Amino acid sequence: MPRSEHDVLIVGGGVAGLTLALHAAGSRRVTLVRPASDDQSASRWAQGGIAAVLSPQDDFSAHIADTLVAGAGLCDEGAVRFTVEQGPSAIEWLLSLGVPFTRDPDPASLYPYHLTREGGHGARRIIHAEDATGRAVLDTLMANTLAHPDITIRDDLTAIGLLADSRGQCRGARCLASHGEATELLAADTILATGGASGLYRHTTSPNPASGEGMLMAAELGAELMNLEFQQFHPTCLYDPEGSPFLISEAVRGEGGHLLNAQGERFMPALDPRAELAPRDIVARAIDAEMQRTGSPHVWLDIRHLGEHAIRHHFPTIHSHCLGRGLDIPQQPIPVVPAAHYSCGGIATNLDGASTVPHLYAIGEAACTGLHGANRMASNSLLECLVFARSCAACLAETPPPLEAPLAEWQPGRQTVDLEQVRRWRLTMRDIMTHRVAIVRRDQGLEAAAHELGELSAEVGKMVAESVPSAPLASLWHALRLARMSVNAARNRRESRGLHFNPDCPQPARHPRPSRLHLSDLEQAG
Ligand code: SIN
Repeated sequence: MPRSEHDVLIVGGGVAGLTLALHAAGSRRVTLVRPASDDQSASRWAQGGIAAVLSPQDDFSAHIADTLVAGAGLCDEGAVRFTVEQGPSAIEWLLSLGVPFTRDPDPASLYPYHLTREGGHGARRIIHAEDATGRAVLDTLMANTLAHPDITIRDDLTAIGLLADSRGQCRGARCLASHGEATELLAADTILATGGASGLYRHTTSPNPASGEGMLMAAELGAELMNLEFQQFHPTCLYDPEGSPFLISEAVRGEGGHLLNAQGERFMPALDPRAELAPRDIVARAIDAEMQRTGSPHVWLDIRHLGEHAIRHHFPTIHSHCLGRGLDIPQQPIPVVPAAHYSCGGIATNLDGASTVPHLYAIGEAACTGLHGANRMASNSLLECLVFARSCAACLAETPPPLEAPLAEWQPGRQTVDLEQVRRWRLTMRDIMTHRVAIVRRDQGLEAAAHELGELSAEVGKMVAESVPSAPLASLWHALRLARMSVNAARNRRESRGLHFNPDCPQPARHPRPSRLHLSDLEQAG
C-alpha cells in the first residue's frame, strides 16, 4: 500500500479545519484532507452567525451565564469561560481576513457590525453576514488557504480510519482515493475536524451531514467520547417533503418571528417566559408536542409582521430559497419542523483540542470540549470552531514529535461491496434512530433500538471483514457503532436533561455527570 510522510494532517475542511490550517501553517507543514465539494461541511450551511461579546453593552459574564443556563447543568465552566473570553479576538481575526459581516445601518450603534439575537441569548451578540454566515466565513478562509504555500489540500482522498503505532499513538490516517486505492498518510500530529453525527437521523438541516465517522475513528484508537446522548434538533427546518433540507435560521425568531400551531395560535409564551427565544431543546420539544397533539406534520413560523423590506434585508437567502419553493414569506407563514442539526457530544478534548490519545486532536463539532453541556446555545458552535482551532494551533507549535514505534498491520478483505445493500442498511439505521432516539426517547424504544442496531451491526460487520475497502461501507460501519454508543449513553442516563428527554425518568438528577464512553465497552457487551 502506498505511504507518504506528513507533518500536521487535518481531516475536514469546514471552519474549524481551515482555521487550524491557516494558524498552524506558520510553524508546521500542513496537509488538509477534505471533500472536493465543501457542500459537505456543516459550516457552509450555518446561517445565523457567530456569538461573541462585541457590543460595549454586553459582557463576558452575561455570555457565560447564558451558555451555562442553555447547557442545563452539564457545561464545563472552564471551557465556557475560555471560549467566551477568546471570542472577540477570534472575530477580529476574521475581520482582518475580510469576512463581509453585515454592518449596522444605525449610525448611533455602538458597534459597527449588526448583532442579532437567537434563543438563549440575553443580549444581541451574534455577528453575521446576512443570513449566510457560514458560507461567507468559509469562502474567505478557503481563499486564504488556497493561497498559502505551506498548506497542501488533498480533496481526492477520503479518510476511512486512523493509524496507530505500537505505543498507541496516533500516526496519521488511512485514506481511499476516488478510484478506490487505499493509501496511508503518516503524520506527526493528526487533527479530526470531521463534523458531527446528525446524519444518523433521517431528517437533518443540512443536505449532506456527517454521521460521526471521525468520532468513531478516534474511538477505534481508544479515544474517550463524551455526551453522545445530547443530539440537538433545530426547531425550524423548512417543511418541504419534496425539496432538499433547508434551515430557517433561529435569527428569524431573534428578529421577532412567531411560532403558530395548526390553529394559527402562538404556543410558546404559555410554556416559557422567553417564548420563541427559549433555548433550542425547549422550543424543539414544544413543537414536537404540538405536532403530536394536533396531528399536523409541521407548525408555522410567521414573520409577515416584520414587513417585506425587513425580511428581504435580513434574510435574503431564506427569502429567495422559499420563493423558489413557492412560498412568499412576506405574505405567508413558513411551515417548519424540527430536524437533526448538531451533536453536542463527541471526542473528549482539553482546551487545546487534545484527545485522550497522544498526537490525536479534535476540533469543531467532532469534539466535545465541555462548552455545550446538555444543549448548545445558538451560534456558539462557529465560535468554538474558531477558538479551539486557534488554541490547537498554538499547542501544535510546541508539540514534540511522536516517539518512533512500528505501525499496526492492516489486512482488508477481498470481496466486492454490495453498495445497494449498504445504502439500504444506512436507511434502516437512520429510521431506527429517528423513531426511537429522537427528541423524546423512552426506555422501551431505547431497548428496541439497542437490539435492532446490534443485529444490523452483526450483518454489516461481516461485510466489513470480508470486503475490499470502500468509503460508503466504512462510513456506515463507523456511523452504526456511533449510533450504538449513543443509544447506550441514552439508556444509561437515568434522568431528563437538556436535549435528552425520557418520560420514563423525567426528573433531572441532583448531581449530573457527563457521559464518558469507550468503544471497548460496546465491544465487550457484544
Ligand atoms: C441558525 O441560524 O439557526 C443556526 C445557527 C446555529 O445552529 O448555531
